[in-house]
Amino acid sequence: MTIRIGALSLNSRVYVPPMAGVTDLVFRDVVRRVDKNCMLSTEMVSSRALMNRPDPRIMDLATNEHPIGIQIFGHEPDVMAQAAQMAESKGADFVDINMGCPVPKITKGKDGCALMREPELAREIVKQVKQAIKIPLTVKFRLGWDDNSRNAVEFGGMLEEEGVSACTVHGRTRQQLYSGHADWDYIGRVKKALSIPVFGNGDVFEPQDALKLLEKTGCDGVAVARGTLGNPWLIPRITKLVDQGILDDAPDEVERLVCAALHILGLIKYKGARVGANESRKHLGHYTKGIPNAAPFRARLAKIQSFEEACEILAELAYEVGGTEGRTRFLESLPQVTSNVIAIDRAIMAPLSMSSISI
Ligand SMILES: Cc1cc2nc3c(=O)[nH]c(=O)nc-3n(C[C@H](O)[C@H](O)[C@H](O)COP(=O)(O)O)c2cc1C
Repeated sequence: MTIRIGALSLNSRVYVPPMAGVTDLVFRDVVRRVDKNCMLSTEMVSSRALMNRPDPRIMDLATNEHPIGIQIFGHEPDVMAQAAQMAESKGADFVDINMGCPVPKITKGKDGCALMREPELAREIVKQVKQAIKIPLTVKFRLGWDDNSRNAVEFGGMLEEEGVSACTVHGRTRQQLYSGHADWDYIGRVKKALSIPVFGNGDVFEPQDALKLLEKTGCDGVAVARGTLGNPWLIPRITKLVDQGILDDAPDEVERLVCAALHILGLIKYKGARVGANESRKHLGHYTKGIPNAAPFRARLAKIQSFEEACEILAELAYEVGGTEGRTRFLESLPQVTSNVIAIDRAIMAPLSMSSISI
């Protein structure tokens, strides 16, 4: 089944939607190593901030990561239109507007999910953005502001009317933040009311969840965010289950640890030693989640300052889960990890000096 978003044809029903602080170039590179086809997105970018700083690294796209969208947020139609043009000129395949972010810092300025309470302003934004770009426009939103004002069906209808090419619906209200369960039945109501492709979103952590969401909602695709943290293999496993009815095993612990090393080396090389190491800590927490007896290792990984330090701890953990064979497998994979990171789009990565890394 091919999903068409305007002129864009997708070979996958899986979308990894924006996650601020997560879906950066390095995370997306890790995803692309295990899944060539899923749709990707950048982190959200402030349209207002773009007016002062028009070319932030957050909008950098690598050549191998299409199809990918750039997500913008804001509430000033003309500013949003200019931001969308910038996204288009960066080579995005589509522009996504964030109308779902529940964080007070965002909603208090009428951005994100606050726009669901201002449908006429949302309409005006869509109108102006649509006019400003040639690539497809998509919107991501929630079920509504709160349970008393669920308006996702009407809101989606308005977006479709204004020429939005697809939307992603997170099955929670703004008030819920991340509590409770995503209401897949309600997502199904939105899907039923619209003719454009709809990506159902919320609480997919296993391939079987994605299958259930697609069956229950009738959605064209599924957007999987938190489930991919430390677990990029979820994406191809979903595709295989959905397309072929085959459930692949998740990779073993040592393979996860090798991927963690790849991810954090990428972050350190791309963002620099200090920021990269800081940002690596949360990802290390995700990669080691669920590994038996990992808690003391995770506590140490939460403080790492360098790639070498992380690898020492990861090697100990590989020994813990796989004995000498596990540790050896981890260590023997490291040279490949380092050369793989060099392969991240050279045009984008900061100049690499691998000689500084001793393994
Ligand atoms: C750390 C984090 C950052 C997020 N940042 C964004 C964002 O920038 N834009 C957006 O539209 N949604 C954002 N989201 C929401 C997710 O895209 C997704 O809608 C939500 O997590 C529900 O899907 P899930 O249950 O698969 O995680 C973020 C979620 C998380 C966990």
